[in-house]
Amino acid sequence: MASMRAPLLSLVLLFAPLVTADVTIYGLFGQTTADAATLRSGSATPVASTTSFVTVPGPPQYTELAAYNPIYMEPPPIPSPAPPLQFSIGVPSSAQLMNALSIPQHGTFFGFSIEMSVANQLIGKNGTTLFPQFLNLMNTVAPRAGAVHIRVGGNTQETAFMVNSLPEGAMIEKDKEDASNPTSTPVLAFTPELLYMMANVSSLINARWYLGIPFNDTSDFRFQIAEQGEAILGDNLLGFQAANEPDLYAAHGHRPSTYGPFDFFGEYALLTQAYQNDSAIPVKNNLIAPSVSGTWTPEEVWNTGFVDAYTQYLGSLSVERYPTDNCAVVFPNPDNPPHDPLQELPQYLTHQAGINIVQAYLNSTMLAQTWNKPFLMFETNTASCGGFPGISDTFTSALWGLDYAMQMANSNFTGALFHFGGQNVSYNPFTAVPTNQSAFHQWTVGPIFYSSLFVAEALGQTNTSQVKDLFPNDGNDQTPAYAIYENSNLARMALINYMTDPTGAHDYVATISVGGSNFSEANSVPSSVQVKYLLAPSTSEKDNITWAGQTLGPRFGADGTWKGDESVQTVQCDQTQNTCQITVPAPGAALVFFSDAAQQLADGPASTQTFATSIVTQTVNTVTVDPSVLATSNGQGGKNALALGGTSQGGANGASSLRVVGAGAAALGCMLGGAAVFARAFW
Ligand SMILES: *[C@@H]1O[C@H](CO)[C@@H](O)[C@H](O)[C@H]1NC(C)=O
Ligand SMILES: *[C@@H]1O[C@H](CO)[C@@H](O)[C@H](O)[C@H]1NC(C)=O
Ligand SMILES: *[C@@H]1O[C@H](CO)[C@@H](O)[C@H](O)[C@H]1NC(C)=O
Ligand SMILES: *[C@@H]1O[C@H](CO)[C@@H](O)[C@H](O)[C@H]1NC(C)=O
Ligand SMILES: *[C@@H]1O[C@H](CO)[C@@H](O)[C@H](O)[C@H]1NC(C)=O
Ligand SMILES: *[C@@H]1O[C@H](CO)[C@@H](O)[C@H](O)[C@H]1NC(C)=O
Ligand SMILES: *[C@@H]1O[C@H](CO)[C@@H](O)[C@H](O)[C@H]1NC(C)=O
Ligand SMILES: *[C@@H]1O[C@H](CO)[C@@H](O)[C@H](O)[C@H]1NC(C)=O
Ligand SMILES: *[C@@H]1O[C@H](CO)[C@@H](O)[C@H](O)[C@H]1NC(C)=O
Ligand SMILES: *[C@@H]1O[C@H](CO)[C@@H](O)[C@H](O)[C@H]1NC(C)=O
Ligand SMILES: *[C@@H]1O[C@H](CO)[C@@H](O)[C@H](O)[C@H]1NC(C)=O
Repeated sequence: MASMRAPLLSLVLLFAPLVTADVTIYGLFGQTTADAATLRSGSATPVASTTSFVTVPGPPQYTELAAYNPIYMEPPPIPSPAPPLQFSIGVPSSAQLMNALSIPQHGTFFGFSIEMSVANQLIGKNGTTLFPQFLNLMNTVAPRAGAVHIRVGGNTQETAFMVNSLPEGAMIEKDKEDASNPTSTPVLAFTPELLYMMANVSSLINARWYLGIPFNDTSDFRFQIAEQGEAILGDNLLGFQAANEPDLYAAHGHRPSTYGPFDFFGEYALLTQAYQNDSAIPVKNNLIAPSVSGTWTPEEVWNTGFVDAYTQYLGSLSVERYPTDNCAVVFPNPDNPPHDPLQELPQYLTHQAGINIVQAYLNSTMLAQTWNKPFLMFETNTASCGGFPGISDTFTSALWGLDYAMQMANSNFTGALFHFGGQNVSYNPFTAVPTNQSAFHQWTVGPIFYSSLFVAEALGQTNTSQVKDLFPNDGNDQTPAYAIYENSNLARMALINYMTDPTGAHDYVATISVGGSNFSEANSVPSSVQVKYLLAPSTSEKDNITWAGQTLGPRFGADGTWKGDESVQTVQCDQTQNTCQITVPAPGAALVFFSDAAQQLADGPASTQTFATSIVTQTVNTVTVDPSVLATSNGQGGKNALALGGTSQGGANGASSLRVVGAGAAALGCMLGGAAVFARAFW
């Protein structure tokens, strides 16, 4: 944080003036420095005409924690020629008249993937000490989406092992010995406390979880995580990933170099037999596979007969994919030279980015429908090995992330989990403050977190939302749009402008018509629509990102509560012309609410829970599992049977108290935006 002093956070000074120290701007012509505020206002663009550049291209050195990287890159110039800035979008009101709509999607589509080894940095210290910032942030998503889906796993799950206790009451212990793993992931020991912590989160907010079964040793699958996971999480458990990126096992030295899809098929037979045999695992149909990452195509796995063979065990099919990687920075390798973030940047600021990723999976998402299986993007983000500074930690990733997620929804994925690493990565949806700064700093919300809020509201909570990529403006890649039909009628539209122009000269105006003679339907634009904007002054912005006028705060300034007043725009439509004109700033994204039902929800989530003080005490389950309940429950009924036995929230055994440790009098124990607010904690 050499050149960037973040302001001391005072709870009164919630909207502290943003940092104005000099920052490095890294542009096509080299690098220079400027005032951060100047860059933020966009007026730093003339940087290309000054003369004081370092001539050697390449990112400036920054060796401190990547999550707080203060280096800015210049946004790409406006394309030449610029796209037309006035264009029409005509859509039918009825879903029946729209071709190739997606399958119905859930509001929980955009979920999160937390590397197991960082669960104790992000979620809580243990089952009784949860981070209120985590609860608040996830609880901005859950009431919009209906729930929030979170995976705890990743590379670390493969060699993780459960123990009853660890020295000094620790929940997770990292042993850095496994240097063989190219992402330098530690070997983890963890205690059931990790699962209690997750259960305790779910007793406070509507969070549901994915876990992973270790796959490093096919003679001992170490099912304790499944046995205990089922017992402790009950209905809040979504499923178990078994095998994480098996197509990289050979490359990572975890299997012989000849290891191929048929070997994996064979190992899955061992896994499912052992799973079937384990009477302590009541639910047998919630495995998630094959989670291949692009080294094998999914078809190579399908062609082994994988789905037919294991269909009774498979709850969801899955893949993992990042558009590119930044691995060379961590693991120098002559076969994979470093990618220059500046060269990569324009490829994120285009509608083509998401399309390029989903293309390889369109066959599989159609097959998944015939197999009647959900199809998950189980781990993704801007670039593997931590993402790129200047892309993953800027508004670029917010626009990229929402377009990419909507593209996956359009393409019949059923969910996507965006990954978190530790503090030395650029792509985190949010990052806890370094422990030694927690007394004076707060958390940092990554731009891609805002994508999750946008997508949650775009899809809503009815589980009926069908998505359609509209390719407006002759398919121009800078001005994409999606229609969202809900209960078979147009409900919302999402519009994106990838350009940066602080003068406003490249804002665009989409003239939207609904129904009408082109569709042999009545004219259907409402008298007015409501519009919520996702905005920042530039695609390079890192601090000042707003959703409907509110922000979660600048870097080091987030406690998970909204700052500022919500502003939802009302735009009058012309019902005689059957048109609504929607302006989309450069850069920005607009979510337009058309249907009556959608408009009623535009104001954000209604209040569901209130926590009035910093100490939250709730009646939740104590999770004492009666073995006879486990023995008599299996298959689909397993979780319900468990609930009847009293191990789920509301069950007969529920009684225990839970504390979200707060800062006493300084606590923000108040209501904001109708959602529950948890107090700030000082560690
Ligand atoms: C009807 O379709 C034509 C051709 O695509 C288009 O030019 C026109 O704007 C559309 N009219 C309306 C009202 O959507
Ligand atoms: C999504 O699935 C629907 C229903 O099967 C299909 O009509 C549509 O073409 C699919 N979309 C894509 C992009 O594959
Ligand atoms: C949980 O963590 C808190 C904070 O580190 C600590 O004070 C407490 O003793 C821990 N509780 C248990 C049961 O380990
Ligand atoms: C919360 O965590 C503690 C362990 O620290 C455990 O004793 C308690 O039962 C947990 N509550 C739930 C609901 O799991
Ligand atoms: C798998 O991981 C466990 C726990 O880290 C370790 O004890 C075991 O030796 C590993 N097995 C193989 C075959 O690598
Ligand atoms: C599963 O149980 C069967 C019957 O008891 C046994 O023959 C088989 O070896 C077991 N398989 C595994 C993988 O544990
Ligand atoms: C889709 O995948 C199946 C299974 O691998 C394969 O047989 C088929 O040829 C693929 N179709 C296309 C269009 O790629
Ligand atoms: C962060 O990662 C980079 C790249 O691997 C490394 O050079 C740097 O030392 C790391 N910084 C810290 C504080 O760990
Ligand atoms: C926090 O710890 C890091 C790494 O040990 C150190 O470089 C930094 O100066 C510390 N910050 C404060 C405020 O103590
Ligand atoms: C949507 O689906 C979720 C998960 O299956 C379910 O819990 C929820 O009740 C459903 N909502 C509606 C409105 O059907
Ligand atoms: C934040 O950005 C918005 C535009 O997105 C701008 O109106 C506002 O002035 C900016 N606020 C600060 C503090 O820079």
